Amino acid sequence: MIKGNLLYEGKAKCVYETDNPNELLVYFKDDATAGNGAKHGTIQDKGIINNKISTYFFKLLKDRGIKTHFLETVSKREMLIRRLDMIKLEIIVRNIVAGSLVKRLGLPEGTPLAAPIIEYDYKSDELGDPMLNRWHIMALKLASIDEINEIEHISLSVNAIMRELLKAKNVELVDFKLEFGRDKDGTIFLADEISPDNCRFWDADTHEKLDKDRFRQDLGGVEEAYQEMLNRLTM
Ligand code: TMP
Repeated sequence: MIKGNLLYEGKAKCVYETDNPNELLVYFKDDATAGNGAKHGTIQDKGIINNKISTYFFKLLKDRGIKTHFLETVSKREMLIRRLDMIKLEIIVRNIVAGSLVKRLGLPEGTPLAAPIIEYDYKSDELGDPMLNRWHIMALKLASIDEINEIEHISLSVNAIMRELLKAKNVELVDFKLEFGRDKDGTIFLADEISPDNCRFWDADTHEKLDKDRFRQDLGGVEEAYQEMLNRLTM
């Protein structure tokens, strides 16, 4: 595999072309942002840990029948992925009230939800990723109704698989964000990453935060929390 041109640089990752037109290389950076880019920082070795944690979850999900863009780990910070046409949506799944839901619903952080909630954000930096519902998604032709149904089905399966696994590691899956894309045939694949950057993980006993909220909320112990999550998953 030959690393080609930089195709895209995001807040936490760079994506490169390869000599295979159907495959891309992702490089995981240590850069961190919060509040739609208002806060910038670095989390030492985050890229290495997120590559490992994402690999762990993508392999777990593949074993459970979920189609993901993951192909193989190339180096400490690099992952080979399937090239997809990305759907401009962030799919958020919530099990416990936290983050933006605290303000929106006026419920205390940590309130358990009777059933999972699925939300959509439109991926648009200029607009600040506004929340959408399935009617907006269809009207804007971001995805068809069949695709929305499939994305919701996969997202709930991912939630169930991850919750079960994390329970055995004494971790609660509070909420998380997923992204999806289509291959040339229109098949939907889970994409992006699954890491403490885009999931909320709490210790099941103490509710200690083991995710990016430590950076967002200046709680300290950010690097230690990412390392702790990797240890719990792999040890
Ligand atoms: P929120 O409570 O801030 O809406 O976030 C819900 C979950 O989605 C949380 O695990 C963080 C994740 N998330 C991202 O990964 N990227 C984003 O841009 C947003 C808004 C949330």
